[in-house]
Amino acid sequence: MDMRIALVPGDGIGPDIVSEAVRVLDRVASRFGHTVSYKEIDAGGISIDKYGIPLTEDAFESAKQADAVLLGAVGGPKWDTLPGAKRPEKALLGLRSGLGLFCNFRPAVIYPELSAASPLKDQIIGKGVDLLVVRELTGGIYFGERGRSDDGEEAYDTMRYSKAEITRIARKAFEAAMIRKKRVTLVDKANVLESSRLWRETVSELAPSYPEVTLDFMYVDNASMQLVRNPLHFDVLLTENMFGDILSDEASMITGSIGMLSSASLREDSYGMYEPIHGSAPDIAGKDVANPIATILSTASMLRYSFSLEKEATAIEDAVKSALADGVRTRDIAIEGEKTVGTKECGREIEERI
Ligand code: IPM
Ligand code: MG
Repeated sequence: MDMRIALVPGDGIGPDIVSEAVRVLDRVASRFGHTVSYKEIDAGGISIDKYGIPLTEDAFESAKQADAVLLGAVGGPKWDTLPGAKRPEKALLGLRSGLGLFCNFRPAVIYPELSAASPLKDQIIGKGVDLLVVRELTGGIYFGERGRSDDGEEAYDTMRYSKAEITRIARKAFEAAMIRKKRVTLVDKANVLESSRLWRETVSELAPSYPEVTLDFMYVDNASMQLVRNPLHFDVLLTENMFGDILSDEASMITGSIGMLSSASLREDSYGMYEPIHGSAPDIAGKDVANPIATILSTASMLRYSFSLEKEATAIEDAVKSALADGVRTRDIAIEGEKTVGTKECGREIEERI
């Protein structure tokens, strides 16, 4: 297979972690007889510095022409005072929406080796948490009409969803549940929000098409509590854009570190954008301490979803597990007294195990 990847290292620790993911991907390609070519794209703060805007037409076109995008992280304090439309995050939102990537998978899995790093007690984690947040990614309050009053004293954002938008993401959640534990929990705020009531209606209408899947509903405030009280209740959490943003950060921490969680942003064809769910962590950028595992695991998802290379994806996941089992720990996942490795060494340890 010939894979054309658009690489978007972005800002902060983005370049540190993306280079380790590339190292691992190159190894997989050579081991399994594939070729992979990269086109590096500037997006986020680095693009603002070079071209004055977070995402140029050229950059967007290059991403669009590739088979898949691997992204590090964007943003940082340097650009924090810019107005909304000029911020680095706009690059990410522009890619997601411009490329039509409406379906965001964010798996949260506890590795047994890391259970001590989870802030939750052993009896709550049980035999291991394994849940999947399915987040709607191109609609809702992130992309709704927003503005300020003329005098600047008032501001508003709008959450708006169509049945069509809800149906297509709900299908993805049900399909994911079919190959997992067959439970979908729709997380919403249907006791207050009209858009949430439309979600409930639409998802309930779709549920009979997936008779093997159990559907339940949970208000988002309760869900945020249940995630730490009884995470084992969950299999697939289906939710709108902003609730998914918030709950996926919470879910990630159950696993010990946000530095472990990958994500896949997909649409109906095989194209996808893959990125860690964490941010650009500017305070540790370039210091060789960031955890590259989330990005490395994102490349595994890329092989699986965009190229249907299941064996190769599993090879990466197994290499990560084996490195963890052998005690390879970046500082975010180490507990007191454990020896830690830097970003590069962590990448190398995983590469060697492919
Ligand atoms: C995420 C991030 C982004 C989001 C930001 C950087 C715009 O928090 O991917 O979870 O809110 O979607
Ligand atoms: Mg987020």
